[in-house]
Amino acid sequence: NWKITSFIEEKTKAIKEIVGDEHVLLALSGGVDSSVAAVLINNAIGKQLTCMFVDTGLLRKDEGKKVLEYYKEHFNLNIVFVDAKDRFLNKLKGIDEPEAKRKIIGHEFIEVFNEEIRKLKGQEGAKFLAQGTIYPDVIESQSIKGPSHTIKSHHNVGGLPEDLKFELLEPLKELFKDEVRKVGHELGLPDTIINRHPFPGPGLGIRVIGEVTPEKVRILQEADDIFINALMEEGLYGKVDQAFVTLLPVKTVGVMGDQRTYEYVAAIRSVNTIDFMTATWSKLPYEFLGDVANKIINNVNGINRIVYDISSKPAATIEWE
Ligand code: XMP
Repeated sequence: NWKITSFIEEKTKAIKEIVGDEHVLLALSGGVDSSVAAVLINNAIGKQLTCMFVDTGLLRKDEGKKVLEYYKEHFNLNIVFVDAKDRFLNKLKGIDEPEAKRKIIGHEFIEVFNEEIRKLKGQEGAKFLAQGTIYPDVIESQSIKGPSHTIKSHHNVGGLPEDLKFELLEPLKELFKDEVRKVGHELGLPDTIINRHPFPGPGLGIRVIGEVTPEKVRILQEADDIFINALMEEGLYGKVDQAFVTLLPVKTVGVMGDQRTYEYVAAIRSVNTIDFMTATWSKLPYEFLGDVANKIINNVNGINRIVYDISSKPAATIEWE
């Protein structure tokens, strides 16, 4: 595709020119946009780019480890890994209201990010902050006019303090998602990253309904991993647009052998959508759903019941919180 190859050539040249021999920082989330931006910039300026990956403790199972190993091995990316698990989980103690959790997570992310970039900036004097902003993000941030227009507050990196002045580097700003994917493909990113379902900024913090505890996060990570792997194994992952497990703050009675159990209920959610503004629940095969439910219940300590969410958006939202 000549359009994509010439986009890459032009951007690579432009990045080199703009950056010169300065340094660039980028917050890598593991999602498509920041990954493509990282690899594109890395191709242009190599070691002048430092990527920062924050493990909030609210990521999918082993996500932090996987991201780190993968990018180091395949793209020789210079990644600083920040383990902030305890910070986030401590701040979330006793908080059960969804918007309060979002605010805390968003705020803590900015704190951690600022602290870390301050350290890095001291070392490297980075002049640029790179972001994987894409065209729809630009439009969205222009059209949000106030609380009445935001159904849920979406958090992205922002609000940098005065002393942390950066010039922004946003090489994907003109692209739509499908174009970002094509660029990523051309740059040699694997399908597992390119075709990844979106993952909310607050992560599992809004998929553990109610108060978030380390134990609940662990239970949810295990269950979600089983569901996502099963979708992939059955070739269903690419046929749905977002799939995940949500852990409910409800315990129900079950039976295991001749023992009565009293454990959590988890909900499986899978949706098909074009723009995430409206969505329908995925008509996954009954057999498949049954197998996933069994696998979760048999393997995850703490869950003894699974339900499948058959609500559409609207009136439900995709996430439960
Ligand atoms: P809802 O639940 O509003 O979700 O139907 C629509 C899409 O947005 C994602 N989502 C978020 N993404 N910060 C994010 O970065 C958030 O606070 C947030 N809340 C929802 C959700 O995963 C879905 O893809």
